[in-house]
Amino acid sequence: MAHGEEFIGLVYGEVDMTKILVTRHIPSPGIELLQSMASVEVDVFAEDKIIPRDELLRRVVGIDILVSILTDKIDAAVMDAAGANLKMIANYAVGFDNIDVAEAKKRNIVVTNTPTLEVNESVAEHAIALIFALAHRVVETDRYTRDGKYHGWGPELLLGTDIAGKILGIIGGGAIGSGVARRMKDGFGVRILYNDLKPNSKFEEEFGAEYRSKESLLQESDIVSLHVPLLPSTTHLIDRAALAMMKPTAFLINTARGPIVDEAALVDALERGVIAGAGLDVFEGEPNIAADPAVADRLRKLQNVVLTPHTASATISTRSAMSKQVVTNIEEFLAGEVPENAVK
Ligand code: DGY
Repeated sequence: MAHGEEFIGLVYGEVDMTKILVTRHIPSPGIELLQSMASVEVDVFAEDKIIPRDELLRRVVGIDILVSILTDKIDAAVMDAAGANLKMIANYAVGFDNIDVAEAKKRNIVVTNTPTLEVNESVAEHAIALIFALAHRVVETDRYTRDGKYHGWGPELLLGTDIAGKILGIIGGGAIGSGVARRMKDGFGVRILYNDLKPNSKFEEEFGAEYRSKESLLQESDIVSLHVPLLPSTTHLIDRAALAMMKPTAFLINTARGPIVDEAALVDALERGVIAGAGLDVFEGEPNIAADPAVADRLRKLQNVVLTPHTASATISTRSAMSKQVVTNIEEFLAGEVPENAVK
């Protein structure tokens, strides 16, 4: 159970107990599996809401392992409150921008994430769902129909856009970007352009994809889909200048992280017809749909956007796979290994 020689467990009588705090109930089987582990004490914040900061700071005291979710800000203050026993932060998410990883490293705290195959597939499917929702105006026409505005078929009623044969620009050619490329190429004969830190011959061979600079990709693509992590270098990657390079008929899809797009600039672009539409699963200043309430109000009024509440990975099987992965990460750590999903 001890992790190398550095691990200091809590001693209850003769048994070295590992104290784990889970900041929110996660789908089966994660918590059950943790509870079935020997010499482990599991504390779960059981209310169905984001754990309040003061509650988090109180409950982390003395824990060995923290299972966090992407809405928990895990910074130096949380690590200080936890104390010297804290040796692992197992994030229930692919993204880990909610954790001060540099601070954790300084303290020898291992950070893990859950980049399971299932997450990649679900997020790729969701990005595609947003593309089609925009192109076929699914949400807008649903609202129209519910509102009793449909009074008979019309040759020019609510015309949309076909996707077959269009150009899809993928920014970030990792597992999720690949999932989107594969489905769009095989299913809809879409031509794939991509941009990443450097060209990737495997991505090119597999999807017949062509590498482009960010600027060329924005200029040539009918759809731009973002699949990069949130880093200082990707914050506002899509800013006013980037939006101005896109086609007026183009759609922007963001299932990655909100701050990758400058939302105030995006709302301006959508209102002024600089681009045709946006599908957003993530937002700056979540759980608000924009950091600035005035921008949020304008975004809400737009018909050419589809908004989902950070649910790209929210399928029963994926959330369960993530839950299992958290436990595997913890098991590997407790076995003295460097977990496969340790954040580098
Ligand atoms: C993640 O796991 O980081 C995703 O954002 C969840 O949808």
